[in-house]
Amino acid sequence: MPKYSRELIDEVIEANSIVDVVSGYVTLKKTGRNYTGLCPFHNEKTPSFSVSPDKNLFYCFGCQEGGSTIDFLMKIENIDFLEALEMLAARAGITLPKTGDFDEARDNQKKRFYQIHRDLANFYYVNLKRNEQAKNYVLSRGIDQNIRKDFGIGFAPNAWRAGIGFLTERGHTIDDMIACGVAIRNDRGDIYDRFRNRLMIPILNSGGKVIGFGGRKMNDEDNGPKYLNSPDTPIFNKGYELFNLNQAKKNISGDQLIVVEGYMDVIALCQNGVKNCVASLGTSFTLHHAKLIGRYAKEIVLCFDGDEAGNQATQKALTELKDSRVRIKVLRLDPKDDPDSFIRREGTNAFNQVLKNAMTSTSYLLKELEKPLDMRSEDGRIKYAEGAINILSRLDSDVSLSFYTKQIAGQTGISEQVILGAVQKNGEARDRAIGRIRLNYQAKTKKIKKAYAQAQCAVLRLAIEEKSAKALSQFSSSYFSKGFYRNVFEAIMDCANAETPIDAISVMSVLADEKDINTLQKLLVSQDEDLININFDEAADIINKNYLENEITRITSEIKLCDPEDTEQRQQLLKQLTVLKTVQSNKEEANGKR
Ligand code: GTP
Ligand code: MN
Repeated sequence: MPKYSRELIDEVIEANSIVDVVSGYVTLKKTGRNYTGLCPFHNEKTPSFSVSPDKNLFYCFGCQEGGSTIDFLMKIENIDFLEALEMLAARAGITLPKTGDFDEARDNQKKRFYQIHRDLANFYYVNLKRNEQAKNYVLSRGIDQNIRKDFGIGFAPNAWRAGIGFLTERGHTIDDMIACGVAIRNDRGDIYDRFRNRLMIPILNSGGKVIGFGGRKMNDEDNGPKYLNSPDTPIFNKGYELFNLNQAKKNISGDQLIVVEGYMDVIALCQNGVKNCVASLGTSFTLHHAKLIGRYAKEIVLCFDGDEAGNQATQKALTELKDSRVRIKVLRLDPKDDPDSFIRREGTNAFNQVLKNAMTSTSYLLKELEKPLDMRSEDGRIKYAEGAINILSRLDSDVSLSFYTKQIAGQTGISEQVILGAVQKNGEARDRAIGRIRLNYQAKTKKIKKAYAQAQCAVLRLAIEEKSAKALSQFSSSYFSKGFYRNVFEAIMDCANAETPIDAISVMSVLADEKDINTLQKLLVSQDEDLININFDEAADIINKNYLENEITRITSEIKLCDPEDTEQRQQLLKQLTVLKTVQSNKEEANGKR
């Protein structure tokens, strides 16, 4: 029977998400960091079975059954340890050894693969000096001598078997070269170097051993992809490795590690003194990566390219990391920039400045959520609230929760309590709570709209009944909604200005639209209770309040749209906004005292 090392067993366990495995047998629901469900090992009606993705463990509070993913499989499938291990390995695509002394064979193989990479990296490094084109390319990318040396950047010659020839001389076998990804055997049996005519960037594991390469082509016209990366091999697993982690972990600053998209971003940042940065290797950033970083830093700053692709990658990474223990921040650059271009143009101080202002992941997600929505519309605000509630449900700090709840209440007009209530529910209960918010909100705005219409009716009718525009002089056209109400208001004002009597006949004769005349006739004879009972001051209050709210939303969105360079216009708008808000809060206070 094969004996497996602790490392290999851990590797197999780590390679499988316990939540995914258990979900194959139990319906799980997310509650906070953990998942819960009905225990499959004893009979129960309320869930006491809990799975922790962070700890990779399950536990049942009812029957005290618990353990690792392997323990779970052994118990539920009624199999032994080895069978469970094999199941998990197969699930993750890991091939387990067949013979008893496999670990040693595997270790030996790994050692040979490391040596091949080390030798080849040296070969590439020395070769760069011999190639004018490669030297010029390095120059053109602004990579200086010291940093080229630090990263061991080299050049793969433009030949089919230069690397293979060199490695053969050093005593390595072709089979090993193929197995560790540096040589390729095609269908016809031809064997050749994977990397040819490329700038070669060695990839080191966190122990400092070369485990793969990224090869960049030097002319756009050359064949093949921009970057050619080593494939996954027994010593290189892209989902678990990060470019430059071996150096970055020694240079943690402010408890932070910066994650960028590209090799060149890492190289440029390091050259400019920002050494706590890593890049994922042409794959997306995963929870495994975050866990790896979590060993060295408390906070990850995602600083991807400024373009829309970088934005998408950021969102994807945040979804991936929603269960991560590490704090995540987001630094967005201008669409034209990546960290490489930014720091080379603006310098280290400027980069550190924007780094200081990096957003929390929640702020970023809320901002992205708001982007396509029209927050002036009821529908926009409700959609925002719905999305925001789901984003806030990921927070585990009460302080942040209360901070963002306030913000969202301010933006949507939905009470903090209602938002919090929905955030604290799970699954379908939360969906129902959100549904209720939508209904209540719509009912409320309908009520407000109706009250506003009635208030306008009332003040216009009273003016005509009393044949005086005096009480209306506190308003201007923009206090009335466009169309009928505004037209009637303007007709009354026209009469007043022309010093014609303000009665039904003269107002109607000023109105141009036949439909408006009809509506006014109906309004004047209406016996609607609400309309008869409302007094002028109440109605005027409603109109004023509505006007203030509309103006505040209008100016707020104008501020957002205004040219950031035009500080004068901005200042002007901000001033207006402050005045309006003061008036509004004074009014609210006065109403409160009444
Ligand atoms: P430059 O364009 O040379 O400045 O490189 P970069 O490091 O900024 O790369 P870019 O932003 O275009 O891409 C980010 C990362 O994605 C790269 O560092 C590679 O790891 C990976 N990548 C980019 N292009 C390719 C490709 O064509 N194939 C593969 N496999 N990976 C790529
Ligand atoms: Mn880039």
